[in-house]
Amino acid sequence: MDAAVWVIELVLLILPAYFANSVPVLLGGGAPIDGGKKWSDGQRLFGDGKTVRGFFAGVLAGVAIGALEGLLLAGGNWEIYQGGAPTYVLAGFLLGCGAMAGDLLGSFIKRRQGLARGKPSLVMDQLLFLALALLFVYPLASGLLTLEAVLFLAVLTYFVHVGANVVANRLGLKKVPW
Ligand code: CTP
Ligand code: MG
Repeated sequence: MDAAVWVIELVLLILPAYFANSVPVLLGGGAPIDGGKKWSDGQRLFGDGKTVRGFFAGVLAGVAIGALEGLLLAGGNWEIYQGGAPTYVLAGFLLGCGAMAGDLLGSFIKRRQGLARGKPSLVMDQLLFLALALLFVYPLASGLLTLEAVLFLAVLTYFVHVGANVVANRLGLKKVPW
């Protein structure tokens, strides 16, 4: 496969997860998922940064981007999934759920490490949502998701995440640029 085609297909594949992970910054807020509950170490289960509204907004963003890709890509030259537009919607749902589950797991581990809400952690903030998103969508995309592809997406995600947080900080959406 042409390298440029490979890169474009991988970007299209991961896009619903990126949207899922960023939309909660805009649409999140309200009741925390953990209901304020604490773990045995006295720290919060997930913390106030993980809200119910943010979680569902993230999953829906994944579905929406998946559906959009289904409309634009199914049956065309840039097909990433077999099975037509419904498969893209399902992939968006899986990527959204995976990204939000990875995001939650990351916060859970950060709290266990004693890291306060909003403190940066390379692995928890940037790579865990990717890992779970890829794991969830893998059954639909095993052909494209080789080891090289996963490594490429890890590097891409690192740079996209750093860039997006700087932009969100400049726009006043996030207090800190990470
Ligand atoms: N957010 C949300 N619900 C989610 C995930 C995120 O409402 N499930 C919102 C919160 O306002 C959060 C912001 O998006 O503060 C940024 O998300 P993130 O960086 O993942 O959370 P942090 O506040 O940094 O908290 P943590 O240390 O737990 O990652
Ligand atoms: Mg954060």
